[in-house]
Parts: sequence; C-alpha cells; structure tokens
Amino acid sequence: MPTPAPRLQAFRAGILHFVDDPAQAGDAAVVAHEDGLLVLADGKVRAFGEAAELLPGLPPEVELTDYRGRLLMPGFIDCHAHYPQTDVIASPGEQLLRWLERYVFPCEARFADATVARETAGFFCDELLRNGTTSAQCFATVHPQAVDALFAAAEARGMRMTTGLVLMDRNAPAALSVDAELAHAQGEELIARWHGRGRARYAVTPRFAATSSARQLELAGRQFAAHPGVHLQSHLAENRGEVAWVAELFPAARSYLDVFDRYGLLGERAIYAHCIHIDDTDRRRLAESGSAIAFCPTSNLFLGSGLFDIDAARAQGVGVGLATDVGAGTSFSMLRTMSEAYKVGQLRGRALSPWSAFYHATLGAARALRMEDTVGSFAPGCEGDFVVLDLQATPLLARRVERARDLEERLFALMTLGDDRAVNATWVMGECRHRRGAA
Ligand code: GUN
Ligand code: ZN
Repeated sequence: MPTPAPRLQAFRAGILHFVDDPAQAGDAAVVAHEDGLLVLADGKVRAFGEAAELLPGLPPEVELTDYRGRLLMPGFIDCHAHYPQTDVIASPGEQLLRWLERYVFPCEARFADATVARETAGFFCDELLRNGTTSAQCFATVHPQAVDALFAAAEARGMRMTTGLVLMDRNAPAALSVDAELAHAQGEELIARWHGRGRARYAVTPRFAATSSARQLELAGRQFAAHPGVHLQSHLAENRGEVAWVAELFPAARSYLDVFDRYGLLGERAIYAHCIHIDDTDRRRLAESGSAIAFCPTSNLFLGSGLFDIDAARAQGVGVGLATDVGAGTSFSMLRTMSEAYKVGQLRGRALSPWSAFYHATLGAARALRMEDTVGSFAPGCEGDFVVLDLQATPLLARRVERARDLEERLFALMTLGDDRAVNATWVMGECRHRRGAA
C-alpha cells in the first residue's frame, strides 16, 4: 500500500518565533516575517518563512488559512500551574503557608472525587487554550484519579501536558497525607499508564521539602532516575517563613536547594518554581545539574513572596521559563504574566525587554522543560502549536499599537495591555482548539 500523502496546511500572517535567547544573542534571536507563512505537514512544522517565497511552491491541495493582519507565534508554554487550585484563585489575605492551610488544602481534598477532578481538569484546559497556552507542566493532587483526569482532559484537546501525583507524607492534613511507599507505587502505575502516551509526560512531584519525609524524597529521587524522560517538579525558596521552616526540618542541609540535591532531585528535566530566596552557590548548582526555574511573577506578587532575580539566574546559566502558578497566580494569561514579570524587573531596577518576555513564554520555557526539539518554536519537525494574536482586540490596544514605531514596541503594548481578548485563535498540532467568539 502506498503511504498516504501528508495533510498539508498553511497559515499566512505576521509570524514571529525565537531561535535563541535575546538577552544573549540580541536581535539575531528573533525571526519575524511581516507577511509570513507557516506550513504544517500532518500537524508538524514543515516550513516557515516569507509568504512570497513559500506560496509558489505549495501544491494545490494545501489548506490555506488567511490570518493577515494578525500575529502568529508558537503556542505559549506555562511551566508551572496547579489545576486543582482553579477554584481558589483570588483568595486573599495570607502569605504562602497560611494560604495553603486556609484555602488550598481544603480545596485539594475535594479531588478525591473523580467527578470534581474531571470537571475541573476540563475547565482548566479550556482556560489555557482561551489564553493561547498549548503546553503546560502542572501539579495535580495526591489522588491518582486527579492525575488521570488532567492527562485525559489534555489528551482530549491534543495538548502537551506534563503532570504527576503530588507527594506529601507529613505536615499536611490527614486527608492529603499519603504513606511514602503507597504514593511511590501509585506513581509507578501512573508512569506506566501515561508517560510517553501521545503528548503526556509524567513529572515526579514532591510538593515542597516541608511536606515530605526524608524517605519520601529518597523514593522520589529513585523514581526520577529510574524512568527515562520523566520530569521532576517542586517548589523552592518561595517565602521566607517557608525557607526557615525547611532549615529546621533539614538541619544538615547547606540550603533549601541542598535538601533536594541530597536526594537526587536535581538534573535535566527538573524544574523548581519560584527560587526567590537562593544564593549564587545554589544558582551554580542548578545550572551545573541542568535544573531550571519557573518564574511565577503574578503569584510572587500576590502572596508577597518577593522579587525573583531573573538576571542572576541567567548570568549563572540557569534556564528560566515563565509560569502562571494558578491559583496563587492571578491569571491564566501568559500576556498578563509577562506584564507582571516586567514590573518585577522594574522594582529590581532591571527592565525585562519584550523580546525576553515572549522568549521565556515560548522557546525559553521549552528549553527549561527540555522540550525544545518538540515545542516552543517553528523549527522544522516541531509540533504545530500556535497562537493567533489580535493587536486590535480592544480599542486601547489598537490605539497604542497604531502609534508604535516597530514590532518590539507593538509586542510591549500587547503584553502590557493584552489578555485573553487578544487571543483570536489557538491551534494545537494543526487543529483549531479555540476561536474567540465561537460557542
Ligand atoms: N509551595 C508548596 N505548595 C505550594 C502551592 O500549592 N503553591 C505555591 N505557590 N507554593 C507552594
Ligand atoms: Zn506552585
């Protein structure tokens, strides 16, 4: 039997992606075409360039979508969020530890019910798509059925999802505390069921150092080492009270990071959220081990956790991806997240450029997750995930963009004034999964 011809799709628009980190490579990191064309074959990138150059070579059967007047870029990648916290987003008045006790733990206990998990996972994935996010790495809860629910919801929508069973065996309410050996065995089953199935990837997920015994961290390190391609996610040095507590719980460790290091929890595909209260020794160790940081500006501001130093991390060579950290984070929108990242930079005296902001939500995030061969850019062979942005989405954005002198200024207006209203459509592997205004 002859192999069937691939399904060919082409999208004409202003198109932009990154081939490197603009903070290091400068303008050479950005590739932009005012009248560009993205060509997909069976949902993966075949070509990307000037429309005038690529159009004449396309066969007549190509499905051409005309997005001229819009800006198309790789789908956003959210490196760290909690789907079970969707319903406690915008819960006020506390910093991290009290906020977890008062709002998060009672909410997460409800995910023992698979119906709650399925309904919330579906809403969460739809909300990501409404905001142009096509890949995410997320926390579930301590319940295997909650992990199943998120993987299933992402699979039904074609999205790239990395998640795992949250590990907690001490300092947590009884309903959320699971024996280390039992949780380990449940993790093994989830890895067998989901890891590498389509776009699903498993992440070993110790919540943070304070809610796991030494035995649980040891088992987590073994699980991370035992399964090729498995990820690891946790929280690190987010809040001063948390850092002091972890120092009491693990008195032999040099630092919070050193706790994880001792149990084999650093390495490529390990990503730590926050990393606000760390030093250069920690940053060097993160870089040397290939671990990365999820920068969560809306969350860090909302919980009063502090100002993450992205420049110090990058100077030491640590990969950084932007993240919403919903529900401590206050928005699903990576545009809103970029805008808050910019303001954090301002408070630290170093403004984040718009190029850097969009880089850390696309290729930079893919690199932090070690997925840059698969997502984050329009390099040939990458999965065909993209967002179509409308710079005329609101009267104010349209007015500001009209006065912008160049693309960089237009992008800055977009990230400062834009949100889900600016996401005209979201495509996942060549399938349109969100169209603004559609029922
Ligand atoms: N540290 C431990 N658990 C959490 C959580 O759920 N959210 C945040 N922001 N930090 C944490
Ligand atoms: Zn988090």
